[in-house]
Amino acid sequence: MAVPKLQKNSGKKSLFPQLCNFIYLIPSLPNQFIYTKQKKVYSIEDVKSYEQQTKEFLKYSSATEINDAEALRNVLRFHEYRYYVISEPLLTDYDYDMLYKLLQEWEKAHPENIPADSPTQRVGSSLNKDFPKRQHLVPMLSLDNSYNADDLVEWDRRVRESTGLDEIMYCAEPKFDGASISLQYEDDQLVAATTRGDGEVGDDITLNAKQIRSVPLSASFSKYGIAQIEIRGEVMMNKQSFASFNEGLAGEGLATLANPRNAAAGSLRMKDSRQVARRNLEAFLYNVSFERDKTADNKQKPTTHSGMLQMLWQLGFKSPVKEMKVLKGIGEVIKFIGEYEESRDSLAYEIDGMVIKVDSLELQDKLGMTSHHPRWAMAYKYKARQAESVLIGVEYQVGRTGAVTPVAKIKPVQVSGVTVGSISIHNEDYIKEKDLKLGDKIIIERSGDVIPQIVRSVTEDRTGKETEIIFPTTCPVCNDALYKPEGEAVWRCVNINCKAQVVERIIHFVSKDAMDIKGFGEANVRRFYEQEIITDIPSIYHLQEDKLQGLEGFGQKSIENLLVGIEASKTQALHRIIYALGIRYVGETTAKTLAQVITTIFELKDKTIEELQVVDDVGVKVAASLHEFFANEDNIHMLEELQNAGIVMERAASTGTAEGKFTGMTFLFTGTLAQLKRSEAEADVEAHGGKILSGVSSKLTYLIVGADAGSKLEKAKKMTGIKILSEEEFLKMI
Ligand code: IVH
Repeated sequence: MAVPKLQKNSGKKSLFPQLCNFIYLIPSLPNQFIYTKQKKVYSIEDVKSYEQQTKEFLKYSSATEINDAEALRNVLRFHEYRYYVISEPLLTDYDYDMLYKLLQEWEKAHPENIPADSPTQRVGSSLNKDFPKRQHLVPMLSLDNSYNADDLVEWDRRVRESTGLDEIMYCAEPKFDGASISLQYEDDQLVAATTRGDGEVGDDITLNAKQIRSVPLSASFSKYGIAQIEIRGEVMMNKQSFASFNEGLAGEGLATLANPRNAAAGSLRMKDSRQVARRNLEAFLYNVSFERDKTADNKQKPTTHSGMLQMLWQLGFKSPVKEMKVLKGIGEVIKFIGEYEESRDSLAYEIDGMVIKVDSLELQDKLGMTSHHPRWAMAYKYKARQAESVLIGVEYQVGRTGAVTPVAKIKPVQVSGVTVGSISIHNEDYIKEKDLKLGDKIIIERSGDVIPQIVRSVTEDRTGKETEIIFPTTCPVCNDALYKPEGEAVWRCVNINCKAQVVERIIHFVSKDAMDIKGFGEANVRRFYEQEIITDIPSIYHLQEDKLQGLEGFGQKSIENLLVGIEASKTQALHRIIYALGIRYVGETTAKTLAQVITTIFELKDKTIEELQVVDDVGVKVAASLHEFFANEDNIHMLEELQNAGIVMERAASTGTAEGKFTGMTFLFTGTLAQLKRSEAEADVEAHGGKILSGVSSKLTYLIVGADAGSKLEKAKKMTGIKILSEEEFLKMI
């Protein structure tokens, strides 16, 4: 049971604060971690110093208080780097904007002293080195920000003055809080997708963008007389996908991400584009930044921004036509954005404000741009939903893989209609980074309706009575010593018989994506475990009906349903059994891949770490974890018990036995396929009687090579008798 315990006073210091600092924020993005580590842009001392300076500058109420503007620029550069380059922001957008405005105000008063590299003189920050670079057709600018009705009225006044009009037609739409992207289409075909980068040049992430289903691979722009077009938008992970993505991370014993924006930005930069497809991303396209017409007098295309969004919608893009509204004058705009804010929590995805654009494209041209933002658009930032509370205590929960997660207990407080009483504070380093103490006054924020988080502790209000949070050295449930592997952020209980882990493993085993035993559910598992009706995973299959009888709220019908569910689970597919075992790092996808290369689960017992790594998607970390699991006698004993209880541990007969033109031939796919999904390609082979192999060997007939193929291709080249084909050649064969 995950019985949480209150904080006691004894503990150990982390040996790896800076390493862990980076790991826990981006656990699934090892490339970025390596990049951060190698680049060493800011040392841990720098981070501390900038955080201190940030706090100081945030206290300033006017630019007249500034005596070192370059220090403020460096603070802003530091936060840009955290946000744009490594996707690990340390500041809320609102606070960043406040500092930015402060510098703008100072520079306005001292125009002779603005260096060319001031954060106000450019967009974005230095580049991420990993992907090929690509130039935007038009620089990707930012937006000017407003925070209240007065700001909007003032902007409207400027727009009316510049255009000489009494009243302007505006288009208001959500300000999507994701990762920005630009798409280029030529002759109706998608030719490139690029991240924002420094605004001029971004990372070419075309392959990754193609994995997002809402990005059309082709669209009939020619119908509108358009030959070439560049479209801007935002890639988003919706709240629900984000919640299950985080659940998956937690389930695999990894630290979770703070918000959907980080998840979307990280996903776009993944090296393996196939992984992107699994992340359920969506792309909202909201602006046409460049277009070239087929003929000089093109009359077919829209003349307003809202018309452009309609056109994009017609062409199959997810443009915000349902969300946008065309409004007459700034008064209507102010009313609309106020109303929209009320529905913010019920949206499927995160927005952080609204964007108001002058609707007429002719007027937009007339108004033009500054070096930072267009004059025809204005972002209206909604206030972060923050509240003040007090940190009362810390409880420690033990998960399925033994990970010990500290959970802050706070004085219950309402944030956008929901009462928050506890907040995950991730791990020991997070506590240090946020400088949290028991008794602290804290500011909390709800990022969407998903996860509340602590923004900061109000250190300036400390009374001296606050006490250190000391991470426990022993498991709060079984009392065994906790252990933290080098380079990891999470303390673990390594006693696999720890009751907390056992019950969490049973919950995972019966869950929907695993064995899917209907009628169980988390609450029942906990209850049956406490009453010793079940004691471990195999005991599920020896459950005695009479022990269930008489349980409050668990009638005959419930008992029958549960028993039917248990019986049905005995013939679940092999990959579900592998996933259900809850082996660290083995998620659903890896379980599926593994199930394809074995016929019975016991084969995994005999594979070495090297042999396991031959399997697609299995790296050294996963292989080592599998090896550790299957080397443990207790685990093998459990599998035997399950087999004796009637669970089918074998893969259902493969379709590879079908007769066809590939009968007697073997295939292996490597690298990223452009047109087919790996699973589809493999199904095609099997449907034609061929067999899929898991590695390059003398038994292999064909190696089909996609983009960025690596060691398998090299190995096959050195061997005789293996035919190496491109994806195109394979498609011709089938
Ligand atoms: S228009 C030339 N519309 O917010 C200006 N941007 O904070 C093009 N954003 O850089 C941008 N929702 O990445 C526009 N409906 C929307 C938006 C939006 C989100 C992003 C965009 C922009 C950033 C500025």
